[in-house]
Amino acid sequence: MKRGEKRILFAASEAYPLIKTGGLGDVVYSLPHALHARGADVRLLLPGYRALLRQLDQVRILGWLDVRGAEGIVGARILETRHPDFAFPLWVVDCPPLFDRPGSPYVSASGQDWPDNAERFAVFARVAALLALDALDTGWQPEVVHANDWQTGLVAAFLADQPARPKTVFTIHNLAYGGYFSHSDFVRLQLPSHWWSPESVEFHGGFSMLKGGIVYADAVATVSPTYAAEICTPEFGYGLDGLLLSRQYKLHGILNGIDTGIWNPSTDTHLPAHYSAGRILPGKRRNKQALIAHFLPRADDAVLQAPLLGLVGRLVEQKGIDWVLAAIPVLLLETDARFVLLGSGQTLYEQKLARLARQHPDRIFVEIGYDESLAHLIEAGADMFLMPSRFEPCGLNQMYSLNYGTPPIVFKTGGLADTVVDANTATLKDASANGFVFDTPDVASFLDTIRRALALYRKPAQWRKLQQTGMRQSFGWADSAGHYLALYSTPVSEDSHVIHIT
Ligand code: ADP
Ligand code: GLC
Repeated sequence: MKRGEKRILFAASEAYPLIKTGGLGDVVYSLPHALHARGADVRLLLPGYRALLRQLDQVRILGWLDVRGAEGIVGARILETRHPDFAFPLWVVDCPPLFDRPGSPYVSASGQDWPDNAERFAVFARVAALLALDALDTGWQPEVVHANDWQTGLVAAFLADQPARPKTVFTIHNLAYGGYFSHSDFVRLQLPSHWWSPESVEFHGGFSMLKGGIVYADAVATVSPTYAAEICTPEFGYGLDGLLLSRQYKLHGILNGIDTGIWNPSTDTHLPAHYSAGRILPGKRRNKQALIAHFLPRADDAVLQAPLLGLVGRLVEQKGIDWVLAAIPVLLLETDARFVLLGSGQTLYEQKLARLARQHPDRIFVEIGYDESLAHLIEAGADMFLMPSRFEPCGLNQMYSLNYGTPPIVFKTGGLADTVVDANTATLKDASANGFVFDTPDVASFLDTIRRALALYRKPAQWRKLQQTGMRQSFGWADSAGHYLALYSTPVSEDSHVIHIT
């Protein structure tokens, strides 16, 4: 190990390309790589899900740890592996009763939360805390443990009163998922009894793993400056706004970056044609052709000429899917726009989108499911990108869209507000416009903004300028990784364990 390298144990519940359900997976891949590229000595700790274990080739057993589960002691085997997609070692918590099962990391095939999620992620957090203390005597003890979202919220809590512990950093990727469990889970997991307090993890009669991260981590980050301010208000705080406000001294809004190696229209391996800001049109047109052909093998010229509005995302209320569902019928009547939508999530949204596509097969193209390659093709082949999220901690898709010359249409919230500049007379003139923003959360404003976008689309020179502004912006990790490294090096604040709850 070189002198001066920070040793960082990064703990999370998903990581692209091994296992991903959303933007968390992308960030857990790209942020540790950005840190590694800046000289950090990183280990990434993940649960040993069946789908993940199947992708590992050669593993080394680092050791065995016994920790408390819901029904007694649970044994976990800690594996170390080198994976070709990762520049640093992966550590995997292999515990078959908890993680060796089909389906997603969090829900069963029928979409229900796994009933033992409290145990699964309490065990994962206990193991992470032990590894942070080098309980296996590997000779590698991190100086910083960086945990992410509720699944790892208890890591900082388990470490809080340990002597000679590493610094703890906790990033909130989405406050809407609090990791809430019952009092009986708390008892069965034998969590420390002094945690059963509103000043600790207790929350309205149950407990919240996310709250553990906020209360006990030395530093708390969230994924955009605007969201960092929003979550301190009742509107976005899910009842944790008072706590967050009292912890503002250790709360940092650090905008996510995107991986410009993977998401780059001039090199993207998922695309039939490449393009860049200097020459957009021919490449983008070929991608649009391929995208339309995916759904409509014999599309005529009118389809290619018409504006194509894309959407990729989890089909949940957060993403404003109901606004999209309400806007589409109006736009079908008023305009010649086409729609291409990829996502999975709430059954009702899936059914409604699928029904719309059946009713208008030549205008609405829908794929329900998860398809990484199609997501890239939509970013490249669509003319504009719909992302009317009610709240958005950061959002990666709008940054992918900007870099792909596919101006996003977004609601002014969280990371969307921090990255998208609305096209109006002034911003078009000073060339800062890169997309379209509405600031009243309703269908009428969303529709008006889409109409504005469609009008500008008919002015090719101005449209090209808008595309170029987004494509020339740099959303890489350089700045943000620097902010995290600075956070890792800041001494732990004296009063970080003082509890003040408003
Ligand atoms: P969130 O994390 O809230 O889902 P982000 O915009 O931060 O939102 O990140 C979403 C990520 O997940 C992007 O990489 C996006 O392309 C991907 N994604 C979401 N849904 C799908 C899907 N159905 N198929 C492929 N990729 C998807
Ligand atoms: C969450 C948020 C999203 C963010 C992602 C990565 O899933 O919903 O806004 O971009 O995490 O931090």
